[in-house]
Amino acid sequence: MLKGRHLIDIMDFSTEELDEILGLANEIISDEEKFSQVCRGKLLATLFYEPSTRTRLSFESAMMRLGGKVIGFSDAGSSSVSKGESIVDTIRVISCYADIAAMRHPKEGAPKIASMYSSIPVINAGDGGHQHPTQTLADLLTIKSMKGTMSNLKIGCCGDLKFGRTVHSLIKAMSRYENNNFTLISPRELKIPDYVKKELDNKNIEYIETSSLEAAIGSLDVLYMTRVQKERFFNEEDYVRLRDSYILDKEKMTGAKDNMIVLHPLPRVNEISHEIDQDPRACYFKQVKYGMYVRMALIMELLGIK
Ligand code: CP
Repeated sequence: MLKGRHLIDIMDFSTEELDEILGLANEIISDEEKFSQVCRGKLLATLFYEPSTRTRLSFESAMMRLGGKVIGFSDAGSSSVSKGESIVDTIRVISCYADIAAMRHPKEGAPKIASMYSSIPVINAGDGGHQHPTQTLADLLTIKSMKGTMSNLKIGCCGDLKFGRTVHSLIKAMSRYENNNFTLISPRELKIPDYVKKELDNKNIEYIETSSLEAAIGSLDVLYMTRVQKERFFNEEDYVRLRDSYILDKEKMTGAKDNMIVLHPLPRVNEISHEIDQDPRACYFKQVKYGMYVRMALIMELLGIK
């Protein structure tokens, strides 16, 4: 039962609960009209303290496509945070206005704190370099739709694995399905954090770390590219040195399986060449669409609407 729950970490939900959300998303995809008024009279608050295109607008689009309405802010400077109001007071206030809230924040743990003082469901829409569970729901739905399974897959994650919150959530989620293993491709400075590796070790899940995309690509079923995130670096020099560590282009794709899929949470900068967009294996714009449908399903589940 997901009614009234928060989603802060992808591990907050069991695999059965994740499957229930994905199942509902597929139902919505097959007959969207049927769901067009199910959230009539309900309000979603989007509290975005950090920039976003996809996550905020897909949440807003999701709620409106369900017949609900949206309030919120996309810039902390236009809210009373700029006067010094705390997250705790903000969520107490928002709980009086809305039925459900999605929060993005640059500080790791901020949505978790908000959830502890909230009387409405709080969804983590990305907290610093920590987690991004609704992106993971989009990733899972894309993998399931494109590969027909979420098990027995070799998943390559490439780019900024240190600060890449989408990768942290994805690895946690995919490690719960049977017989998946991971190839973690990054420069030395952007390796996956120890706490994520520890979880893989604890579950005896196979993974390798490498800095070579060329060497790894041929064995992968899923390649999850990520952006080197300028906003997470303390100095420009390190960012400039590392930003173009990996560029997926036509030549590298010749070494990949015919049925490998390429995912990316977006936005991309240089890490996937635009020439790849026409390749049938490039699924990152499908992933965007799946993200909206899965957020529709999540909103319905957390509000207890069937
Ligand atoms: N994938 C993602 O989180 O994109 P936005 O930063 O545009 O929301």
